Amino acid sequence: MTPDTRRRTILMSVAAVTGVLLLPDRKLSAQLAPTPHLDVPYVPTPQDVVDRMLDIAKVGKKDILYDLGCGDGRIVVTAAKQRGARGTGIDLDPARIAEAEENAKKAGVSSQVSFKVGDLFQTDVSEATVVTLYLLPTVNAKLRPRLWKQLKVGTRVVSHAFDMGPEWPPDKTEEVNGRRIYYWTITQAQKKAVT
Ligand SMILES: C[S@@+](CC[C@H](N)C(=O)[O-])C[C@H]1O[C@@H](n2cnc3c(N)ncnc32)[C@H](O)[C@@H]1O
Repeated sequence: MTPDTRRRTILMSVAAVTGVLLLPDRKLSAQLAPTPHLDVPYVPTPQDVVDRMLDIAKVGKKDILYDLGCGDGRIVVTAAKQRGARGTGIDLDPARIAEAEENAKKAGVSSQVSFKVGDLFQTDVSEATVVTLYLLPTVNAKLRPRLWKQLKVGTRVVSHAFDMGPEWPPDKTEEVNGRRIYYWTITQAQKKAVT
């Protein structure tokens, strides 16, 4: 029996014995879902780095921020709570999305944000004015042509820890407590490169 199956069986047995109908609970449903294959493991960005990423991108109330691989939603929730932005978080792991929704609720920003279970390589990001990332170099490199194709000129992209390779040098980099932040803006040059 795999650890997932064992966990699911235990939770099902508890539900059966206690007579509690647990499945409609979103958090539990997320826990019962099979662990998806992740391109990047979950490691949250420290809050001081989140704050600086939003500063560097000058996130404000007119912005629509997308965090691809949003984890517990901290970047989207902070952008909404502290800067009045709207935002969307995408994560392949339903457990992360359940946490993000809970965090948005606690912060009182549920009406400004949405969180969806999905693959960042299948997500349409064309409405974003800011995109945030904390992925891996190979994942950034694979994502780059999608960003160039879908994002409008002027859209800001901020990445924690990893760059986009030699094909797209950052406009700016900064270090916060030993963590590097990379910043780009989409220009006509990128749009031309993918047409
Ligand atoms: C390093 S964590 C970053 C979390 C959050 N953005 C932050 O900075 O705190 C990467 C996240 O990407 C998610 N992830 C991995 N592969 C993914 C994929 N193909 N599509 C969407 N999310 C993915 C993981 O579940 C994880 O939550």
